[in-house]
Amino acid sequence: MPHATDPPRLTDQEAIERLKALDRPWADDYLAMYSSWWQGIITDPWLMTVPLDDHLVHRGDGVFEVSKCLGGRIYQFQRHLDRLAGSAQAVHLELPETLERIRDIALAVVAAGGEPDCMVRIYCSRGPGGFTTNPFECPRPGLYVQVGRLHPPAPEAYERGVTLGVSQVPVKSGFFASVKCCNYLPNVLLKREAVINGWDFALGLDESGGLAEGSTENFGLVDHQGNLRLPPPGNILEGTTARRAVELAQEMVADGQLAGVQRRRLSIQDLESAAEVMLFGTTLDVLPATRLDQRPIGDGQVGPVARELLARMRRDIRDNHAMSTPALA
Ligand SMILES: Cc1ncc(COP(=O)(O)O)c(C=O)c1O
Repeated sequence: MPHATDPPRLTDQEAIERLKALDRPWADDYLAMYSSWWQGIITDPWLMTVPLDDHLVHRGDGVFEVSKCLGGRIYQFQRHLDRLAGSAQAVHLELPETLERIRDIALAVVAAGGEPDCMVRIYCSRGPGGFTTNPFECPRPGLYVQVGRLHPPAPEAYERGVTLGVSQVPVKSGFFASVKCCNYLPNVLLKREAVINGWDFALGLDESGGLAEGSTENFGLVDHQGNLRLPPPGNILEGTTARRAVELAQEMVADGQLAGVQRRRLSIQDLESAAEVMLFGTTLDVLPATRLDQRPIGDGQVGPVARELLARMRRDIRDNHAMSTPALA
């Protein structure tokens, strides 16, 4: 006997109507999505769902990439696709399509979204197949590509610099840090700690007490000898932005604007005594940090290296078409 307080049983039509009527203001930013589930592109946000029995949903069993499209060109897209392939291989996930096909699908979703500036999110999942942890119960991997509006930090953040804190949350290390898989719970807790403490971003420590990275961003610092220093690969995700920043920083070394670029273990003391600190990420480009909790970093102002590196990266995005996909017609 059903009880009066039981949720109602809905017809298909009623369920669809309720889904369409849900209040999801954040979904106004969702422009288009492809799903291997229905093998096509849709633009209505209420349809942008994934099956609950895809192991991506209930086990975080999938890999992903987020890239940025500006003026109809996706910056560093080949590097994002190569990292996607590397992540998939690392977790023994067969890619649902060839990289070339994934690229073409992504470009088609961007075109369907109709906005030349957008974020492109690609998820390759173990696929629907039941509710255990057994990856072999999923007959086919899934592919979801979603395009949405950009939300970069406000211009003032680049002028004033942001606030950092050092987190107590244990971060992913080694293998799990280096794979961009859909299990981001440590990153979520890191971000939560930043918000709770009133920091703009939090940096995590690896097991040996070395500074690793932020929730979804890498970091680097400039020491008083004028070297840009980033943590070594090993306990971080190698960011496409940090990688490009290192390449651009090498050009600054050649131009006499930096003494050197180093990848080496960085401690909290290195952070506290740095002349400059900056964050690297697809959404951010190069974002200067000028306070560590309440204390100023260096002189508390945005430094010359962060300023120059940001300018070089913005020029790279705008003018260096070899680093981006061809502009969409
Ligand atoms: C954990 C983590 N580190 C670093 C980055 C920065 O990578 P990228 O520069 O490729 O955006 C990301 C990106 O989301 C990330 O999730």
